[in-house]
Order: sequence, then C-alpha cells, then structure tokens
Amino acid sequence: MTSPKHTNDTNRRSQDTDVWKELLSCTWKTPLGIIGVSLTTISVTLIIIGLICHLTGLISDHYFFIFTFLFLPLMMLFGLALIPLACYFRRKKWFKDSLININHLQINLADKQHRKGIVLFLILSVINLTIITLVLYEGYRFTDSSYFCGVVCHEVMDPEYSAHQRSPHAKVPCVSCHIGTGSNWYVQANLSGIRQVKAIISGDFNRPITAPVEHLRPARETCESCHWPDKFHGKKIKEFVRFTNDNQTNPQIQEVALHIGGRNPVTDEFEGIHWHVSRNITVEYQALNKKRTRIGKVRVTKSGGTTEEYSTSNETPDEGVTPEWRTMDCIDCHNRPTHIYDQLEQIINFGLFSKKITPGITGIREDSITLLKTEFTSRNEATERIIPNLLELITKRHGKDFVDENKKEIVRSGTFLLEAYLNNVWPKMKVSWGTYRQHLGHLYADEGYGCFRCHDEEHKTKSGKLIKQDCDMCHDEPE
Ligand code: HEC
Ligand code: HEC
Ligand code: HEC
Ligand code: HEC
Ligand code: HEC
Repeated sequence: MTSPKHTNDTNRRSQDTDVWKELLSCTWKTPLGIIGVSLTTISVTLIIIGLICHLTGLISDHYFFIFTFLFLPLMMLFGLALIPLACYFRRKKWFKDSLININHLQINLADKQHRKGIVLFLILSVINLTIITLVLYEGYRFTDSSYFCGVVCHEVMDPEYSAHQRSPHAKVPCVSCHIGTGSNWYVQANLSGIRQVKAIISGDFNRPITAPVEHLRPARETCESCHWPDKFHGKKIKEFVRFTNDNQTNPQIQEVALHIGGRNPVTDEFEGIHWHVSRNITVEYQALNKKRTRIGKVRVTKSGGTTEEYSTSNETPDEGVTPEWRTMDCIDCHNRPTHIYDQLEQIINFGLFSKKITPGITGIREDSITLLKTEFTSRNEATERIIPNLLELITKRHGKDFVDENKKEIVRSGTFLLEAYLNNVWPKMKVSWGTYRQHLGHLYADEGYGCFRCHDEEHKTKSGKLIKQDCDMCHDEPE
C-alpha cells in the first residue's frame, strides 16, 4: 500500500511532465514553431549536403560557398531562435487563459524525466553550436580572403585583383591593407562592404572605381605592421630602361640612386625621402581636387610643436571641393603599392629589353604601341585580335614573305603584347593605360602626379622658404 502523500507526489510529478510535454509538443503546432522547426531542419540538411559537396570537391562555385557557409547557418540560427520564442508565447497565452498552474511549469531536477530532457537539450545544443561555429568560421575565413574580394565581385574588382596577384604584395590579403586588424575596422569595413555589394547588384558604381580611396584605413597603421620606416636608410638604386622607335636595340639606361633615407643611425635624425613619415614630424596638406593631384597649403609640424606653412599662388579648389587638412602618409607617395599597372611605353621597353618582343624586327616597337593603344570593345576581342593584328601590321611593313619566315618570333612578341594588354586593360570597367597613375617620382608631373605636386618651387612660407626641387635632394644627380 502506498501512502496518500506518495500518490500525491507521483500525481503531481506526472502532471508536471505532462504540462511540459504539452507545451513542447504544442510548439510544433503554432505557426511560429512550425517555421522555426522547418527552417532549422531544412538548413541543417542542406548544410550537411553542402559540406559533403564542398569537402569532396564536387561543387566549388563561390556563390554555392556563400550560400552554404554564410546564408544557411544564419537561417539555422534564426530557426533555432524561433523555437523557444514560440514556446514562450504559448506559455504566456496559457497563463493568461489560466489554463495551467505556474507550478506545473517548473524544472524539477529531482524528476528523472526532466533530467533526461535537460541532458538531451544540452547534447543537441552542443552539436548544433559546433556545426554552426565550424561552418561560420569557414565562411568568415572565406570572406576575409583575397579570393573573395577579388573574385566574387569578379567584374568590378578584376583589375585590382589581378594587379595585386602580380605585385610584391600578392601574398598580403586585401584585408591587411583595406581593413586591418581590430574589430572596429572590421565592422566598419563590413558596413561599407554591404553598401558596396548593394552598389554592385544595382550596377551603381563608378567605372573606373575612383582613386584615391577616401576612407582607406590610415596607412601608417596598416603598412607599418610590416614595414618599419625607422629601418630605411641609405640609397636604393633603380634602373630605367628606354628604347626609341628608331633605336630598338641599344637602350638608354639610366640609374637613379634614390635617397630613401629614414633614420640616420649616426645622427639619429630622419632624412631623405622617408623624412615625411618620420617620428616627430607631421606633414599635412590640403588637396584642391578629389584626385589629390593639385595641392594648396602644406604644413609641417616639427618636434616641439613649431610649424611652418607653405602656400602657393593658385589655391582655388575645384568645384564642389572644400580643402581639408590631410596628414601625409605612405599612400600619398605609394598610392599603388599593390594595384600596380604598367605604363604603355614602359612595358614595351621591358619587352624589348627582355627580348620577349624581338628587337630585330624593324618597326615592331611602333607597331606594338599602335596595337596596345587600339580600343578593343572587350578583353575577348583583344584576345582574338592582338596576334593577327600584329601579323597584319608587320606584313604591311615587311611583306608576306618576311612574316612567313619570322612567324614564330612575331607570334611570340604578340603573345607578350596580349599578356601586357590583359594585365592592364578592362574595357568594361573603363580601366586602360594611364587610368591609375603612381605618385612615386615625377614622370607624370604634367598631369599632377608625383613629388612635384609640392616640390615645385612655388610653395613658399611667408619668409620665402621653398619646397625645393634640387635633383640631388632626392637622388644622386642623374648623368
Ligand atoms: C599592400 C596593400 C594593399 C593590398 C594588399 C590591397 N590593396 Fe587595394 N588599395 C590599396 C591602396 C593603398 C589603395 C588606394 C589607392 C589610391 O588611393 O590611389 C587601394 C585601392 C583599391 C581599390 C580602389 C581602386 C584603385 O585601384 O585605386 C580597390 C577596388 C581595391 N584596392 C581592391 C583591392 C582588392 C580586391 C584587394 C585584394 C585582392 C586589394 N585591394 C589588396 C592597398 C592595398
Ligand atoms: C602583411 C605585411 C605587409 C603589409 C601590411 C604591407 N606590406 Fe609592403 N611588402 C611586404 C612584403 C612581404 C614585401 C615584399 C618584399 C620583397 O619582395 O622583397 C613588400 C614590399 C613593399 C615595397 C617594395 C616593393 C618593391 O617594388 O620592391 C613597398 C614600397 C611596400 N611594400 C609598401 C607598402 C605600403 C605602402 C603598404 C601599406 C599600404 C604596405 N607595403 C603594406 C609586406 C607588407
Ligand atoms: C614622400 C614620399 C614617400 C612616403 C611618404 C613614403 N615613401 Fe616609401 N618610398 C618612397 C620612394 C620614392 C621609394 C623608392 C622608390 C621605390 O622603391 O620604388 C620608397 C621606398 C619604399 C620601400 C622599399 C624600400 C627598399 O629598400 O626597397 C618601402 C618598403 C617603403 N617605401 C615603405 C613605406 C612606408 C611603409 C611608408 C609609410 C610609413 C612610406 N614608404 C612612405 C617614397 C615615399
Ligand atoms: C604634400 C607635399 C609633399 C609631397 C607630395 C612630397 N613632399 Fe617631399 N617635402 C615636403 C616638405 C614640406 C618638405 C620639407 C621642406 C623643408 O623643410 O625644407 C619636404 C622635404 C623633402 C626631402 C628633404 C628631407 C630632409 O632630408 O630634410 C626629400 C628628400 C623629399 N621631400 C622627397 C620627396 C619625394 C621623393 C617625394 C615624392 C615621392 C616627395 N618628397 C613628395 C612636402 C612634400
Ligand atoms: C622631390 C624629389 C625629387 C626631385 C627634386 C627630383 N627627382 Fe628625379 N626622381 C625622384 C624619384 C622618387 C624617382 C624614382 C621614380 C620611381 O621610382 O619610379 C625619380 C626618377 C628620376 C629619373 C628616372 C625616371 C625617369 O623619369 O626617367 C630621372 C631621369 C630623374 N628622376 C631626373 C631628375 C632630375 C634631372 C631632377 C632635377 C631637376 C630630379 N629628377 C629631381 C624624385 C625626385
């Protein structure tokens, strides 16, 4: 015989369990619950299928990747979150309608059923969270990769991606310069990333993408995580090779010994070209146009806070531009550290110098220039036309027999020109020869690029001190 108290207890316990069961099973029946359960189940199934396809290499499409590793896990999380929400609403409704006694809906650890339920819940949660974390981590790593930046927005970023792939920074991921470490920048970049994705979908972006990038992370933070201006010193010799149309075989070679400077280990003073970014010195300037190719006032602040301000005679900004002070950093000279495009004549000179373009074929330099300047409507058209066009041009010059005899050499030269074209021209993005220029040096000073934006002997302080243009300040006097 059981005591009345005992019966009471058993009753109460089974009643508790029943209410719980009722609540949980009812959850499936509410619309919210159904959505939650279906979303979770479908997402998990698809993720598992996707994971298998990905791991076995069956599908490597990047849209598929984004779908599996970013979209589905988010859907799964969303679905999971709906389930307790559905429970909660149901419970609230029951209370309101006084259908149950609140005591029936408490977790009772002494109850075996409850303990089982909790353990099951914990196990399932751990499994779910592990899957989600793994999958989201893969997704996160993927969005962080150069491949994602360059290839997913294929058409738009193709010029930057391929230039980056051939540069000294090919192994440096896009995010190291464009985002940098720190969650703050990551969030900012992703916010602007979302704007960019929107722009790409709607086709509402500039062609070519405008440079300079206005909100690039301060270069001193990104570049200096790898390069240390204190360590630059001495000179760097650069060689410049030039041919002319009349002289394709004997180049004029100019060696320039650049005073890259940095900290002088003897005097501990900063000097030379990297003086602008040395400790204790701040150089600021006001750009008069968006491209920063016209510079108005320049201000130098030295240690101790003494400042000097240089002005120039024409400081009227372009329409719509309000001059603002910008602190000079690496990007003001190294604006193309990784998206480096060739200059048309320079790449042809390189071809002749390396004999990838056969210098022995008279007139080939001129024909190469004509060919690369041709405005093809697409990269495909260029791929089809460049070699045949070169054969035609050389035929015009030297006749059919000559071309037949030297066909191999001409095709080889054409192949080099085609590669040069594909590395530099994207008609759809309106990126062509000279679209993006460097600020290092002064070859394009006429167009406002390079050091002579400030070093023009026109920028003066009130006391008449100039930003000088003496050749031997920046490099040994060229011979
Ligand atoms: C070593 C640093 C560095 C890396 C790595 C890098 N960038 Fe850049 N990128 C820059 C700088 C600096 C600019 C700004 C150029 C300017 O202001 O004139 C820039 C500009 C751009 C622009 C604007 C258009 C242009 O050419 O100026 C795009 C688009 C871009 N980068 C995409 C990418 C992508 C995609 C990757 C990875 C494949 C990448 N970047 C990797 C430094 C970097
Ligand atoms: C993650 C590290 C890293 C970051 C960030 C980085 N660089 Fe570099 N940089 C390198 C490496 C590695 C090289 C290649 C050195 C070599 O090939 O000898 C290099 C080479 C260079 C060179 C020499 C190129 C040449 O033609 O020899 C310049 C200039 C340069 N970086 C400037 C920059 C600037 C400007 C930034 C910031 C926008 C930057 N780097 C950011 C790692 C980095
Ligand atoms: C006033 C313009 C200017 C500024 C500002 C500047 N550089 Fe340079 N830098 C140059 C020039 C010019 C060279 C030599 C030309 C070359 O290497 O193509 C050079 C060379 C370099 C090199 C190659 C050195 C070597 O020994 O090959 C690196 C790396 C570099 N700079 C990094 C930086 C970093 C990082 C910053 C920012 C902290 C910076 N530079 C700021 C003009 C500048
Ligand atoms: C935004 C303006 C600006 C630009 C752009 C600029 N400079 Fe300067 N530079 C200055 C100013 C200002 C001084 C200091 C003049 C003085 O105090 O005599 C200076 C000084 C120098 C010095 C002398 C440093 C020393 O040892 O005291 C060198 C070398 C130099 N610049 C090289 C370059 C090179 C190379 C470039 C282009 C790659 C360049 N500068 C671009 C503003 C600029
Ligand atoms: C403010 C610094 C600065 C001054 C002043 C300067 N240069 Fe240069 N020059 C450079 C830099 C930096 C380069 C390297 C460009 C590069 O790395 O592509 C260069 C490259 C050159 C080259 C080789 C590239 C080419 O265009 O053929 C020649 C030649 C040259 N300079 C001549 C001169 C002469 C002549 C003077 C004097 C009137 C002078 N430079 C004054 C900074 C300067």
